[in-house]
Amino acid sequence: MMRIAVIGSGAREHILAYALYHAPEPTTLFAFGTTANPGIMQLCSDYRIGDITDVAAVCSQLTAWEIDLAVIGPEAPLSTGTADALRAAGVSVFGPDRALARIETSKSYTRELLEKTVPQASPYYRVVRSIGEAERALAHLGELYVIKADGLCGGKGVKVSQEHLHSHEEALEFIRELLAQNSQCVIEEKLIGEEFSLMTITDGSTCIHLPVVQDHKRAYPGDTGPNTGGMGSYSDADHSLPFLTPDDILTARELNEQVIEALEQDNGSPYRGVLYGGFMAVSEGVKIIEYNARFGDPEVMNLISVIDADFPQLFLAAAQGTLHDQQITLRPLASVCKYAVPQGYPEAPVKGAEIDISGIDGPCSIYLGSVDLIDGVLVTGGSRTAACVALGKTIEEAERRAETAVRQIRGKLFHRSDIGTAALIDKRTAHMREIRS
Ligand code: AMP
Ligand code: GLY
Repeated sequence: MMRIAVIGSGAREHILAYALYHAPEPTTLFAFGTTANPGIMQLCSDYRIGDITDVAAVCSQLTAWEIDLAVIGPEAPLSTGTADALRAAGVSVFGPDRALARIETSKSYTRELLEKTVPQASPYYRVVRSIGEAERALAHLGELYVIKADGLCGGKGVKVSQEHLHSHEEALEFIRELLAQNSQCVIEEKLIGEEFSLMTITDGSTCIHLPVVQDHKRAYPGDTGPNTGGMGSYSDADHSLPFLTPDDILTARELNEQVIEALEQDNGSPYRGVLYGGFMAVSEGVKIIEYNARFGDPEVMNLISVIDADFPQLFLAAAQGTLHDQQITLRPLASVCKYAVPQGYPEAPVKGAEIDISGIDGPCSIYLGSVDLIDGVLVTGGSRTAACVALGKTIEEAERRAETAVRQIRGKLFHRSDIGTAALIDKRTAHMREIRS
């Protein structure tokens, strides 16, 4: 029986554990997480709570479990070199080495690599180290700019002009804050269009492209409020999105392939795991917003729900360089995921508040995220609480099912009721038509 360890304890790791457990051949699962996630725990033979960025602790626990495959869910353990250390210990790992994970962990590394590799798809940017440099970059960009912290911030280190920042003075104030924490930050051109995510499973040479998904980063309905880790997402039954052309998808796939190749050339080792391209469909095609070195959350909910595959074998093959033997099939269904998050999220989330998921019924799956089990009571952590994901023949049908379920979770929580609704999707399609006409 294959022995597999999942690193991480959010909803992404819950659905990954679920997929690895419900495999054609039985598997023995283990997990190393930050908190007690009862959803993951019930699938595992053993579950260890600890610091998932402590490479030595993770390695010694996983080798003690004598695992065949490690699946690294979040970016934090990738950024500390967990994959490198496990590989050195002879373990097969789904997740890139630290140097290759810089495609996510360093915005400046990424922009520099993209400028060399796919200049046509990367917006104007400057890595700035002083207020003087920032002033010059802002003067060049005028009103359309985005300021990004140059490190991991859980999607919250980014501020966009006209939404979060309303003048160069406000921008410079944010830049001062960022430069006080780190020696540099990134200023780039604000792209106008519609965002989508395309993930590619790879062993460095074979690429298996997954369906495109649209996430919703802003906290509140109508795409307002601060940026979050992602409030929910949808995918369509034809595995495209209503506002994309077949060419957009082809372009995004080619960009992922070029970046996978460039990462190997730059670092001398193959990228093994999943590469997440965050794209903007713009007037003249497709541009790159960012890359991540892991599955997107919430996008993973849509993907795992519509993919039929032998996930243990698929991830093992990506880890071992034999992905050419693997195949996936896609169910012709739409999917919608909605996250319930603590009141006050992302800035001041209610922590330790009791939640109750026992009222959920109907055709929807729930995956537990930032929760903890304290004296038998399920409570909120600081981040997204639980993901409700439903399938349907259309996005609208999936949306109704997900919305019904997310409303059945009791606690000091909120969600975005507009994700996946016809009104929001029509707005996006009209926006795309307008900017491309
Ligand atoms: P990131 O952490 O780079 O994904 O940025 C978070 C969010 O900020 C993205 O999902 C976009 O909504 C927005 N964003 C980032 N970069 C840009 C850009 N160059 N143009 C427009 N919006 C952006
Ligand atoms: N869906 C956003 C992320 O995973 O970073």
